[in-house]
Amino acid sequence: MTATSSAKRQILVTSALPYANGPIHLGHMLEYIQTDIWVRFQKLRGHECHYVCADDAHGTPIMLKAQQLGITPEEMIAQVNIDHQSDFKDFGVKFDNFHSTHSDENRELSEMIYNRLNDKGYISTKTIEQLFDPEKEMFLPDRFVTGDCPTCKSPDQNGDNCDNCGATYSPVDLINPRSVVSGATPVLKESEHYFFELPKFEAMLKEWTRSGSLQEEMANKLAEWFEDGLRNWDISRDAPYFGFNIPGTTDKFFYVWLDAPIGYIGSFKNLCDKNPEIDFDTFWKKDSTAELYHFIGKDIIYFHSLFWPAMLEGADLRKPTSVYAHGFVTVNGAKMSKSKGTFIKARTYLEHLNPEYLRYYYGAKLTSRIDDLDLNLEDFAQRVNSDMVGKVINIASRCAGFITKKFDGKLAPTISEQALMDEFISVQDEIADCYEKREFSKAVRQIMALADKANQYIADKEPWQLVKDESKLDEVQNVCSVGINLFKVLITYLKPIVPSLAEQVEAFLNIELTWDSVNHPLTDHSINKFKAMMQRVDMKQVEAMIEDSKDNLQPAAAAPVLDPNSPLAKDPISPEISFEDFAKIDLRVARIAKADHVKGANKLLRLELDLGGQNFQVFAGIKSAYQPEDIEGKLTVMVANLAPRKMRFGMSEGMVLAAGPGGEELWILNPDDGAQPGMRIK
Ligand code: 2FM
Ligand code: ZN
Repeated sequence: MTATSSAKRQILVTSALPYANGPIHLGHMLEYIQTDIWVRFQKLRGHECHYVCADDAHGTPIMLKAQQLGITPEEMIAQVNIDHQSDFKDFGVKFDNFHSTHSDENRELSEMIYNRLNDKGYISTKTIEQLFDPEKEMFLPDRFVTGDCPTCKSPDQNGDNCDNCGATYSPVDLINPRSVVSGATPVLKESEHYFFELPKFEAMLKEWTRSGSLQEEMANKLAEWFEDGLRNWDISRDAPYFGFNIPGTTDKFFYVWLDAPIGYIGSFKNLCDKNPEIDFDTFWKKDSTAELYHFIGKDIIYFHSLFWPAMLEGADLRKPTSVYAHGFVTVNGAKMSKSKGTFIKARTYLEHLNPEYLRYYYGAKLTSRIDDLDLNLEDFAQRVNSDMVGKVINIASRCAGFITKKFDGKLAPTISEQALMDEFISVQDEIADCYEKREFSKAVRQIMALADKANQYIADKEPWQLVKDESKLDEVQNVCSVGINLFKVLITYLKPIVPSLAEQVEAFLNIELTWDSVNHPLTDHSINKFKAMMQRVDMKQVEAMIEDSKDNLQPAAAAPVLDPNSPLAKDPISPEISFEDFAKIDLRVARIAKADHVKGANKLLRLELDLGGQNFQVFAGIKSAYQPEDIEGKLTVMVANLAPRKMRFGMSEGMVLAAGPGGEELWILNPDDGAQPGMRIK
């Protein structure tokens, strides 16, 4: 289908699902802005286009992060979902639906797809050996194991590759492996895993790749993978895992990457359920003629161009029309860095700068290729100021005042420069073609070249001189009306990129800027008073944003000279934590209702702590200093919101605070008389 075709298309578009364990940053925003521009363009042209997304809510990192925060994964992903949605909304990224992979729709669809694959013989099982954390009683994904590199012996290397010498290896080859989760030495343990038989889809995938709609770089990548040979894909994970149970099992879960792309369908299903006029099957049935596009980052091509089409094919659903990958964002020519303040969260950006600046800058640099995009902050400010403020908005600000003051807001009854007007209108299809092909930078270049022409026209006519001569007032109205009409065309072309500016222009011009409205210049039409629509970027705002993005690591203060007997000399203060980290710790006054010896434990006492109605069991390593009868009935301080830990002797549901070097010199903290069990320590 070409950009100039007027047939109404049915299009479903997705962006990759962000993980639900962290904030959106400007690297993520490239993809959402790219997709949003494309979707807005399709809608502007009158096509039926639906844009869906969701949080990617499952997996080990999410489970562990929630544990660290002392909340359930459900609580964590609910909060993150709110934050993500508000970041997207404030950047003008307008999803038709934003859902979660931890949803009923996604569970049902994942089970259905799995069952279909299983029924058709595309699932097999095999027992494999993996590293297991004996303390946490969980299998460890590669990134949760660290140790010394088997090649160069460099310490503290990742589970699957060495930062020092670049070697790649299996985590079982690490020297002195340790679990990142507990610090324990992992052991090898067997478990039965479920596999999706990808090689059975090789012929279909090769044909799909040749369909011609994939980017050249992606097709090349796929050719390499076919060359290497496709392998079965491990789609199961053992408990404990935050995800969906594999049907027919109680302790096996779908690997997060199995149900994540199904989340695209889940979110669309949720949209259809809320809007009965949208027909689910039209978009997902095997022979669908609707179009389906996935916008993704270059790091997840494998999942989207091999596993995903194969899963869909195996489950009798339609395959994507195309998958569009983009490169990564660098800032000032380098990888985003927390210490340099260039790892910029969407929210931090919004606290300092107008989101349309970034939409414009990304739009002005985006192509259809997979190249990385550099956000050079000087260039960013300079480009927004010279193009958007200096060229585009300047056209309106130079013309509008005369129309308001001299002609009561009325534009001239005819267009006096039809040739110039026609020149602006005639590139409409070319610009549409650029948008369609995701060559946004090319579209912007053309639009800015037109903006230069409009400014040149106004500069040549000098309405500010003409206005001094009463006999030339008609000419002033003509020139300024042409200027306003050229401005209208430019803003219509830019509308997918800067929708909120376009909205302000619509209010100023008293019309809706549709793609077709380009062909209908405004004559004898009333406009409103011009108000400043976009401020210039001030580098001070950019600098403040960078400052706020820096890791608040203070340079280490000069070490104080300590008395060698000071406890600090033997046990230095730990690295600084943020106030937010501290605020998460809930310290409470607790009454030691009961204390017992623990059979088989040398150091532990079992304490029953009363927090004023709610009792907690805590195993505390204070036996060297206290006998149970010494402390029963005393008050102490406990960390009340520590995630329960399963110990050999039972569950420990908190921690009591004690001070001292150890042995007999260990003192549990005794709050003053007057403290009540349950009181918060502030
Ligand atoms: O790489 C990521 O951030 C994944 N959360 C993307 C998932 S996209 C889709 F497959 F769900
Ligand atoms: Zn190494």
